[in-house]
Amino acid sequence: MSLLLAINGAGDNWAVPPWRARFAARLPGRAIVEPEAALAAPQSVRYAAVWKPAPGLLARFPRLEAIFNLGAGVDALLEDATLPDVPICRVVNADLTKRMTEYVVLHTLLYHRQHARFVSQQARKVWDAPDQWAASAVRVGLLGLGELGRDSAEVLGRIGFRVAGWSRSPKEIPGVDCFHGPDGLGPFLARTDILVALIPLTRETRGILNYKLFQGLARDGVLGRPVLINAGRGGLQVEADILRALDDGTLGAATLDVFETEPLPASSPLWSHPRVTITPHNAADSSPSAIADDVAAQILAHEAGKPLRNVVDRTKGY
Ligand code: NDP
Ligand code: OXD
Repeated sequence: MSLLLAINGAGDNWAVPPWRARFAARLPGRAIVEPEAALAAPQSVRYAAVWKPAPGLLARFPRLEAIFNLGAGVDALLEDATLPDVPICRVVNADLTKRMTEYVVLHTLLYHRQHARFVSQQARKVWDAPDQWAASAVRVGLLGLGELGRDSAEVLGRIGFRVAGWSRSPKEIPGVDCFHGPDGLGPFLARTDILVALIPLTRETRGILNYKLFQGLARDGVLGRPVLINAGRGGLQVEADILRALDDGTLGAATLDVFETEPLPASSPLWSHPRVTITPHNAADSSPSAIADDVAAQILAHEAGKPLRNVVDRTKGY
C-alpha cells in the first residue's frame, strides 16, 4: 500500500520532506508518495495525508480507503466537490487543544487586565492604577463547545470568569452555561462581554461574525464594550462589519488569528487599526510529530480492522 502525501501550506510546519521522513519512520516498508509519483500508480494508494490538496486530486485514487487531514479544520478539504466518499479523519490531540487554550486565555486576560491601557501609559511614562475588577465580573462566551472550545471554557472557568458556550447540540458542562441552536444564540450573546469564536467554517457558519451578531452582545459589562476573539476561521467573519463595529463603538476591540484572505493583505485596514490585535493564523500550531504518530497509528489500526477515530461528519461539514 502507499500513503499519498499532498500538502500545500506555507511555513516550516508544512515542508513536505520532514513529513515524508516522519511517516517513513512510523510506517516502515510502506511507500510514502507525493502526487506525481502517486498518479503513476494510482491503484496502490490506500491512504492520503493531506493539507489543502489540489481540488480533484483525491478523486484519482480508486482504492483510497481513508483521508487524514493534517489539521483540525476540514473546510478547505470539503470545498473539493469531487472528494471521494471515504472517511475523513481530522486532527484532535491534546497538544493542539492546550495550545489553543493558551491563546484564548492569553487574549482574554489581556482584555480583562486592561493590558493595552498599560502599554499606552508606559509609552507616555504615566503611572496610573485604575480599579481592577475580578475575573468573575467578566462574561466570556465560547462560540463552539467542541474539542477546543470546551477546554478553553473549562480553563477560563477555573480562572474565575463567568463562562458560557454555544453549540449545535445541547451540552452539559459543569461551570459552563450552555446554549445551543439558533434559539440559543441571542440569549448567549446577550450575556457575553468577550466572544471567542471556535466553531468550524461550514455553510451554516460562514459570515456569522457580522454586524448584526455584534449588536447582540452585552453592552453593560465592566469592559465598557464587547470584544471579539476569532481563532476559528477567517470565513466566519465579515471584516468590513468588524471595522464598522469597532469604529461606531459596537465592538471595543478585536483579536483576530484568522482572516477572509490569508496572509492578510498589506492593504487591509485591520493591520493598522488601534484596537485590533493580529496574529498570523498560529493560535494553535499542532506538533507535526504528534500528528504523524496519530495518523500512522490509525493506519495500522484500520488495517487491523479497528474503527477510525475523529471522523468528520460530511453532512454537518465538520
Ligand atoms: P469541533 O468539531 O470539535 O467543535 C466544533 C463546535 O462548533 C461544536 O461544539 C459544534 O457543535 C459547534 N458548531 C458547529 N456548527 C455549529 C452551528 N451551526 N451552530 C452551533 N454550533 C456549531 O471542532 P474543534 O473544536 O476541534 O475546532 C474548531 C475549529 O477551530 C476548527 O474547525 C478550525 O477551523 C479551528 N482551528 C483553528 C486553529 C488556529 O490555529 N487558528 C487551529 C485548530 C483549529 P456540536 O458540539 O453540537 O457539534
Ligand atoms: C487547523 C489549523 O485547522 O491550524 O488545524 O487552522
